[in-house]
Order: sequence, then structure tokens, then C-alpha cells
Amino acid sequence: MHKILVAALLLVALPAFAAERRAELTRLLYEDCGSCHGLTLKGGLGSPLLPENMQPLSTEAIAATILDGRPGTPMPPWRGMLSEDDAAFLARLLKGEPDAR
Ligand code: HEC
Repeated sequence: MHKILVAALLLVALPAFAAERRAELTRLLYEDCGSCHGLTLKGGLGSPLLPENMQPLSTEAIAATILDGRPGTPMPPWRGMLSEDDAAFLARLLKGEPDAR
């Protein structure tokens, strides 16, 4: 019984991006990124990050901005706090396609 439960939990968590990390990153996006980009990501000090703003950009370009920041602007680099996988997930989340590969 116990083994089946553990196996089922693993099956739910493993395929895409670990559910727990997804939840942490989603919270980070609205709380930390939102402190500059607006709590609903409509823009503030930082530019709006709504799906329509992100759609023209590639996942790679958005992830690079997250990891390296924008030198000369308040957009800070997140490398060290976020892995490349984390940044790619956030980029897909911003584009409205969190489950895309
Ligand atoms: C200290 C304020 C600040 C924080 C915190 C911050 N940003 Fe930014 N961000 C900015 C500013 C300002 C810009 C616009 C830079 C420019 O003028 O090119 C920007 C630009 C961006 C862009 C490029 C948008 C575009 O249209 O090209 C992305 C993507 C982005 N930020 C994502 C994030 C994410 C994700 C986080 C959290 C992990 C985050 N930012 C946290 C200030 C911030």
C-alpha cells in the first residue's frame, strides 16, 4: 500500500518539472520578480511580463535575461540563485506554456 502511494507520487512529480520546484518558482515570480515587474506582472519599475509581451521572445532569450540580467538597468542577474532549468521553466511560465519542452 505504502509502496504504491510512493510510486504514484513519483509518477506525478517526475515527468515535467518537479511539482514542488514549480510551486517555489511560481511564488518567486509573483513575489520577488513582481516587486519590480508588478504583483500581477503588468509592469512597474520593470517592464510588463504578460504572455502577450513574452510571446515574441524565445524561451532561450527570456531565460538568458533572467540568468544574466540586463546590465545598465535594475534587472538583476539571477544566476547562482536559479539554475538554467529554473530559468527555462520561468521563461515558459511567462510565455504561458509551462509544460512545453
Ligand atoms: C530590481 C528590479 C527587478 C527585479 C527584482 C526583477 N526584474 Fe526583470 N527587469 C527589470 C527591469 C528594469 C527590466 C527592463 C530592462 C530594460 O530596460 O531592458 C527588466 C526586464 C526583464 C525581462 C525582459 C523583458 C523584455 O520585454 O525584454 C525579463 C524577461 C525579466 N525582467 C524577468 C524577470 C524575472 C523572471 C525576475 C525574477 C526572477 C525579474 N525579472 C526580477 C527589473 C527587475
